[in-house]
Amino acid sequence: MSNPDAERTFIAVKPDGVQRGLISNILSRFEQRGFKLVGIKLVTPTENLLKQHYAEHVEKSFFPKMLSYMMSGPILATVWEGKDVVKQGRAILGATNPLNSAPGTIRGDLAIDMGRNVVHGSDSVESAEREINLWFKKEELIDWKLNQLAWIY
Ligand code: TYD
Ligand code: MG
Repeated sequence: MSNPDAERTFIAVKPDGVQRGLISNILSRFEQRGFKLVGIKLVTPTENLLKQHYAEHVEKSFFPKMLSYMMSGPILATVWEGKDVVKQGRAILGATNPLNSAPGTIRGDLAIDMGRNVVHGSDSVESAEREINLWFKKEELIDWKLNQLAWIY
């Protein structure tokens, strides 16, 4: 992407986050930081989708348990755009294991167990592109002008 402020990342609220009513809390952190929402939908993922999404983890011992957790209810799939949003997104999420997630992060504020860690966020620009293409069709991503950006950049 030629405009560095147009970097995109894939952020998902996992089934526990949806069930616990944490969607608005999670979305507002990204909105208030100054990121632009360009895609959003509720998805009940198939096993096939999750195996592609978590391709790097399919052979791991924790995968079967994680798969049933991720298939246990709807997930809120979102795409956010903005400067350094992949790295910033991971920072907003906090460490994978809530034991190491700093207070102030989503996991540090809202989770205590790695198997129920509320959110997913892409770990690199390359992963983000792959995950966005996996979860969203091109026409589901909205290119719009966020007027408040003049006050952020
Ligand atoms: P990972 O990609 O390492 O973390 P992140 O979500 O921060 O990118 O792992 C994917 C998910 O798998 C993680 O959010 C929670 C789950 N998981 C476990 O349940 N047990 C584990 O030992 C690990 C490493 C991950
Ligand atoms: Mg990961």
